[in-house]
Amino acid sequence: MKICCIGAGYVGGPTMAMIAKQCPEIAVHVVDLNQSRIDAWNSEKLPVYEPGLYEVVAEARQRNLTFSTRVDDAIAEADMIFISVNTPTKTFGVGAGRAANLEFIEKCARQIARVSTGHKIVVEKSTLPVRTAEAVKRILASAENGATFDVLSNPEFLAEGTAVEDLLNPDRVLIGGESKLAIDALADIYANWIPRERILTTNLWSSELSKLTANAFLAQRVSSINAISALCEATGADVDEVARAIGTDSRIGPKFLKASVGFGGSCFQKDILNLVYLCEHFGLREVAAYWEQVVSMNDYQKRRFAEGIVRTMFNTVSDKKIGVWGFAFKKDTNDTRESAAIYVCRDLLRERARVTIYDPRVSEKQIRADLIASCSDMQGVVSEHDRKLIENNVTIAANAYEAASQSHAIVVMTEWDEFKSLDFAKVYASMQQPAFVFDGRNLLDHDQLAKIGFDIHAIGKSLQD
Ligand code: UDX
Ligand code: ADP
Repeated sequence: MKICCIGAGYVGGPTMAMIAKQCPEIAVHVVDLNQSRIDAWNSEKLPVYEPGLYEVVAEARQRNLTFSTRVDDAIAEADMIFISVNTPTKTFGVGAGRAANLEFIEKCARQIARVSTGHKIVVEKSTLPVRTAEAVKRILASAENGATFDVLSNPEFLAEGTAVEDLLNPDRVLIGGESKLAIDALADIYANWIPRERILTTNLWSSELSKLTANAFLAQRVSSINAISALCEATGADVDEVARAIGTDSRIGPKFLKASVGFGGSCFQKDILNLVYLCEHFGLREVAAYWEQVVSMNDYQKRRFAEGIVRTMFNTVSDKKIGVWGFAFKKDTNDTRESAAIYVCRDLLRERARVTIYDPRVSEKQIRADLIASCSDMQGVVSEHDRKLIENNVTIAANAYEAASQSHAIVVMTEWDEFKSLDFAKVYASMQQPAFVFDGRNLLDHDQLAKIGFDIHAIGKSLQD
């Protein structure tokens, strides 16, 4: 059995590494157009940071896991092809800002059709709008070499930062398809390490829609608790206490109730906007508006946080140094896609703050690219003013102390563990007074910080304290 995976990103790389680890008899070939990404997968420094991933990759790489840019060869040799390319939100034309851009998926399907012979199973791994499989099937049907295909939907539910654990021990694996033979072939692979009862099978459309729905429900929980955090701040309630109190109701459950400066990541916003677009397409305006509100609430939370910083610091941050701790969209990943930090930093920069950012895993190049992109219009054009602001007012620090030193405020954007165990007396002594802390993750020990003398502000904590 030979597997090929097109797309060596945050999904394709870790998922294939786990399959290769668990199934030593299967040859797994991961391909990508991006040579430097492939080089990184073949090196000591993987392009994706995930706890425990290096060990999995290193073990399998010596045996049955290959990374290369030989896309055609990999497709031609494979019995099963996973499509794991990116599907960003469209920035142009019909559905701009909402619909998924399926250009990369379609190109893959055409490439598969062109180089395949015999029978192959094509597995959709990317998050896709419902009924994409239909389009993929039609393109594959045009194959001229007599090749035949079964198309399966096998959405990925791993969360970044815990990808290895999620892949090792998933709550469920979902396989949607029409051919029992094809479904069984994929189920047999997962059954090498996942109990059969956790492998669910559905029709194609249910599988595709379940992925969007799962992400919409998860994001909705975060937006719900974030909405309540605003009310907590106004009333004197404490959002962590409210979350604990409601989370003990077994019907609600304790997970995904952590108030924050806003959810980020490559999936939540994109998938909800996709769902909204789909509902609108089918004339379901109320349903579309309902889900869109989850994204609006998230935008409000990010904006509210940045505005709160300015208001608290005597209505001006102009020319003040602000130390930003964390830039990734959550801890234990180097991914910054849709990270709340991007938008909060952009808003602070537009207030003319001098922003010094430290993240243990995100590169300076990535941070600057994200800030530039956040100031771009739909056509990717950035004003000269914003470009200068990012060039002159953004500094990258080598550690959390350096980011804090001489600053008027520290803003916690990512819940990295290392921020919890710093020497806060030292941090305090290095800062301007009053020394403000804005904890966007409710990560730090607020009582301890207040005792040292910090002026501390946090999500969903009363301003009257
Ligand atoms: C998500 C889904 O969890 C995963 O199943 C799917 O395959 C891809 O999308 P991911 O985006 O990697 O995974 O991370 P997740 O842990 O879901 O966090 C998303 C965002 O929500 C992060 O910014 C996180 O900080 C935020 N979040 C999460 C909160 O603010 N509060 C919470 O209680 C949980
Ligand atoms: P995800 O988080 O969904 O894995 P990424 O953007 O991290 O998304 O990864 C998608 C990868 O797919 C990128 O490395 C990109 O270069 C690759 N890719 C996109 N289109 C193609 C294609 N036609 N052939 C091969 N690789 C592709």
